[in-house]
Amino acid sequence: MRIDIITVLPGLLEGPFSHSILKRAEDKGLATVKVHDLRPYGIGKQKSVDDYAFGGGAGMVMMIEPIVRCLEALKKDRAYDEVIYMTPDGHTFDQPMANALSLKENLIILCGHYKGVDERVRQHLITREVSIGDFVLSGGELAAAVVADAVIRLLPGVLNDETSALTDSFQDGLLAPPVYTRPAVYNGWGVPEVLLSGHAANIESWRFDESVRRTKERRPDLIGGRFSSEKGGNTTEH
Ligand code: ADE
Repeated sequence: MRIDIITVLPGLLEGPFSHSILKRAEDKGLATVKVHDLRPYGIGKQKSVDDYAFGGGAGMVMMIEPIVRCLEALKKDRAYDEVIYMTPDGHTFDQPMANALSLKENLIILCGHYKGVDERVRQHLITREVSIGDFVLSGGELAAAVVADAVIRLLPGVLNDETSALTDSFQDGLLAPPVYTRPAVYNGWGVPEVLLSGHAANIESWRFDESVRRTKERRPDLIGGRFSSEKGGNTTEH
């Protein structure tokens, strides 16, 4: 997979992709992330990328032409499956969207800045508008890094067994169960007995029940009508 990120602040994206799992994905040739500075595609001597909003009001708007020039330069080298625009008024990013994007070959992510991009860019050039949550960042760069991270870690071969994505929170629509490691007792704080029992089926059942319990408690919106508690506390699937 290849992800090309277009930004007016490339420095903000220097860090995330040169560490840990994302770096490993690059080193293994499973993912390539390229960050492109929009400025060289700007207009005039100043290489302007933004201008005042028609109709007035505070804040600058990212202009169409620099974005078109940059997109055209990228599209000369390869076909892209999606051109994603990071914006707080986009569709909220979630695990199913990460799963869907991880199946694509080439993605462009355009980071919004200032008041955002000219609406005509959104209408004619963008295939998907994505928000990472109901809050406003100072630009789309950190949001783009979040999306790229969540997508790249799903690519086959990026994670090893210990970090497998299959047991992640949200992957089965539930939050992940609690985890413990050595020592079995610290400061008088113990570990649930079942996890030390070596009984695989009981452990799996405990983890499932804990996942359901935690999801009901913290994110009842994820549960909907999927599970109900019977008397005696066991959880059954409908
Ligand atoms: N740009 C600013 N805030 C954002 C958000 N919440 N999601 C995506 N892009 C953004």
